[in-house]
Order: sequence, then structure tokens, then C-alpha cells
Amino acid sequence: MRVSYGDRPVPSMLGEHADLDEAWLKDGWLPLFARWLLDATEYVASDGGRITEPNAMVLGTVDAAGVPATRTVLCKGVDERGIVFFTNYESAKAQHLSANPAASATFPWIPLARQVHFRGAVEKISSEETLAYWRTRSRGSQVGAWASRQSQPLGSRDELLAAAEDVRERFHDLDELPVPPFWGGYRIRPFVVEFWQGGQDRLHNRIRCEPKDGTCQVSRVQP
Ligand SMILES: Cc1cc2nc3c(=O)[nH]c(=O)nc-3n(C[C@H](O)[C@H](O)[C@H](O)COP(=O)(O)O)c2cc1C
Repeated sequence: MRVSYGDRPVPSMLGEHADLDEAWLKDGWLPLFARWLLDATEYVASDGGRITEPNAMVLGTVDAAGVPATRTVLCKGVDERGIVFFTNYESAKAQHLSANPAASATFPWIPLARQVHFRGAVEKISSEETLAYWRTRSRGSQVGAWASRQSQPLGSRDELLAAAEDVRERFHDLDELPVPPFWGGYRIRPFVVEFWQGGQDRLHNRIRCEPKDGTCQVSRVQP
């Protein structure tokens, strides 16, 4: 597969003279990240296989004792401010973020031999932004969000199914479920975004972008 960024061809597969140029970051990290996310979404392998959940990212947080934890979440918003994900505000990750409001997020697009890595400060998004996203979710997902006390111990699966049934019953006469008070979005405001493109003989490309005051300091890093 060949894709292009601007007027430059981007050979995107490992072994195809994979390239990554500092100039691609002249307008900051967002255009290139958006392009690569789109490439991952549209990617079709020669056997017809696709990248499942191309917006999945491995989110790293650090707990109050300084011990890191990672898990996968879905990126549901991207703009010049950063990247957004949604979760339970009482989950383990939320507790980590209240102790240490910083995170990493890695998009591993292995079939494209690409990776994008973010590190940044984390903040809760506004309730208006959360509501706008909440309304796009299916009623089933909304019920699931209400029913789960994410990261808390659960005696049995039946307990969870019963909790979901209680939620359905509680809101059965409402057209729209309200946003749970314990659920919403976080934004990672990156202080560094690193693009990685695999190259021949492990001579990979790593280009780092450090956004500051509306500009982006671009540097190349040894593979
Ligand atoms: C593909 C995939 C996507 C996921 N997306 C989310 C998500 O967007 N938000 C979320 O809270 N958990 C998501 N999860 C579940 C998390 O990985 C994790 O189990 C959960 O958030 C609890 O993490 P914590 O106990 O560290 O807070 C996803 C898991 C997978 C495998």
C-alpha cells in the first residue's frame, strides 16, 4: 500500500524503503498524526485483513506509589489541544491520574510498521464535551457505563448482568440516559509526540515533536 502526505509519497510498509521526514512535522504533530490514523483506518493487507480498532492506544499511568500501569483505551477525539479518551472517573486509571495527572499513550500500528507515542499532562474534559460524546453511544453502551463500577471487585458475572438490568429498569421511561456522574473524558495535552516508522535493517526513523507556545520543536532520535 502506498499513501501520501502532502505532495510526498509515503512508502508505508517496512521493507519498502520506509521514510519519515522532519518536514512532515512543519505544521506540528496534528496533521501527520491525523494522516497516519486515517492510513491505519483504511489499511487493507494483501489477504484482506485490516487493523482492528485503529484508534486503540495503550495508555500508561503511574499510581500514587510510583508504579506504572498500562491498558488499552480508544481514542475518541483529536485536535490541536491533544487526544481524548473516555472512562470511569473512579477506575484505577482515574485514581492514578488524580495522584499523577500525566500519561503516555501509544498507538501500535504494527502492519504499517508505525507507532506514535504521546506523553503529556492529563485533564478532565468539560461536561459539555462528555455529553456530546455520550449522546453518540448506543443505549447498550450507556447502560454498561452505568452498571460497571470499573476496576472494583465483582463477585460474579451474574452480579454485573443484574446491575445492568437494574439500570435498564431505573431508566426505562427515559428516551435518553443521563451521563453517569462517575464517567467522562480525559484529554492528554502532549508535551512530546514521537513518530516511529520502521526501516530496513532496524535503521528506523524516529522524529520527535515538542509542542510549545503554538510551535513545535522537531528533532530526530536514534532508533
Ligand atoms: C480494544 C480495547 C478498547 C478499550 N477501550 C476502553 C475505553 O475506551 N475506555 C475504558 O475505560 N476502557 C477501555 N478498555 C478496557 C481497559 O483496557 C481497562 O480494562 C479498563 O479501562 C480498566 O482499566 P483500569 O482498571 O486500569 O482503570 C478497552 C479494552 C480494549 C481491549
